[in-house]
Amino acid sequence: MSEKQKVIITGGLGYIGSHTAIELLHSGYELVLIDDLSNSHLFIKDAIESISGQQVNFNEFDLKDYAACAQLFEEHQDAIAVIHFAAHKAVGESVENPDKYYRNNLLSTINVVKCMEEHKIPNLIFSSSCTVYGQPEELPVTENAPVQPPASPYGATKQMNEQMLKDLSFASSSLSVVSLRYFNPIGAHESGKIGELPQGVPQNLLPYLTQTAKGIREFLRVWGDDYNTPDGTAIRDYIHISDLATGHLKAFEYLRDNPDRKKYSVFNLGTGKGYSVLDVIHSFERSTGVKVPYKIFDRRPGDVECVYADPTKANNELGWSCQYSLDDMTKSAWIWENTVSEFLNESKALKNG
Ligand code: WQD
Repeated sequence: MSEKQKVIITGGLGYIGSHTAIELLHSGYELVLIDDLSNSHLFIKDAIESISGQQVNFNEFDLKDYAACAQLFEEHQDAIAVIHFAAHKAVGESVENPDKYYRNNLLSTINVVKCMEEHKIPNLIFSSSCTVYGQPEELPVTENAPVQPPASPYGATKQMNEQMLKDLSFASSSLSVVSLRYFNPIGAHESGKIGELPQGVPQNLLPYLTQTAKGIREFLRVWGDDYNTPDGTAIRDYIHISDLATGHLKAFEYLRDNPDRKKYSVFNLGTGKGYSVLDVIHSFERSTGVKVPYKIFDRRPGDVECVYADPTKANNELGWSCQYSLDDMTKSAWIWENTVSEFLNESKALKNG
């Protein structure tokens, strides 16, 4: 029986981490998941095992704890790759509490790379973001677009991590790194068993929209309809979370199988299509038959007007392309909302006795 190749996923119970875990399990890899549960739930591990029909090795600890990190990597030094998702990601919170973001998002990466070097684990996929582009001068945005001054400490940690990983990979005899710049991941796995689990009041569009459709929120606030766009609302490149997950699988296999691979490379993971906030609302109503009450408010500070990807490089070099439409994304988000609302109500009821 051939040994399964082992991949370590940090932030493995998170929104993108859990969906990526499913794709790697379906592709026959053995997984070691790390999560500190600061922004995820243990029931996601059970859901991953239920969907895939396979066990995962889960380890709860904080990656800022170097000793704990070193012990994990000592035990799993036969891993051939690390996919590093673990990070705090709330833009607004990063402005209020920058220390939390710099300390967590930078130190966790430093510890992970140090442990990889210790055991010569050769492949690292890093979770970056299109926020590094700010408001691009040209659209669609390619990987050669200039990186703009960060609009938040969160965005700054993404840029700093990219620079740090580039320098560390060039100085290493074994390490190669791919940074994946995500656009706007939305939706949920087709099983309806995993999805986005926002803490508190959602800041991102889709979770707030589905909670409004569910009646948890009174109405959706549309931040600005005076942008220079066809319907006046801001445009983003929304990508199905499962398409984003397969992008990580393809990036890992690209590093593993490509002898001519560069020490450091960057890929945009987006659909290449831009949709406005009203487009998303209309898609949701079309795909679910459920109306979404909304009101127009002033623009949200820090929002860019329009950003969407040129995914050509990832299409050509990773052999990756998106399969899902915007209606697939909004429909899957609604199915998940109906699952998670019941789960959270049940767990609240259990907690309240
Ligand atoms: C999308 C559009 C809002 C909420 C953020 C992070 C980015 C990445 C993706 C991690 C904007 C509008 C939103 C609402 C609204 N995350 N909106 N009403 O800001 O593009 O990107 O998530 O990497 O780093 O910054 O996503 O979903 O917050 O906003 O009108 O209640 O929806 O103004 O135009 P964003 P978002």
